[in-house]
Amino acid sequence: MNYPAPPLAETSMPFEGFKMVVRESMRDMPAYNEAVLADKDLVDIYAFLQSLPGRRPAKDIAILSD
Ligand code: HEM
Repeated sequence: MNYPAPPLAETSMPFEGFKMVVRESMRDMPAYNEAVLADKDLVDIYAFLQSLPGRRPAKDIAILSD
């Protein structure tokens, strides 16, 4: 294990870098080639990640604020 899987919500990583990590992962993450994850699906995943809200303080998460 090199380091924990990083948060990807609101990723500021450019798409080309994102694609490189997914296609040629060199560390603990499994690599996904075009046969298992098409470029168009990768574009959708990237757009989805960018649409997510970022981290919130624990007090703003109901189950953690009791
Ligand atoms: C379609 C599915 C996935 C996508 C799009 C994805 C995307 C990414 C991206 C973009 C990074 C680099 C983030 C950064 O450096 O800021 C990353 C890193 C990482 N991912 Fe994934 N990931 C996927 C699936 C997985 C799975 C299934 C695992 C574990 C079984 C995993 C484990 C990791 C880990 C441990 C890292 C940290 C770097 C490393 O050690 O490889 N990822 N992922």
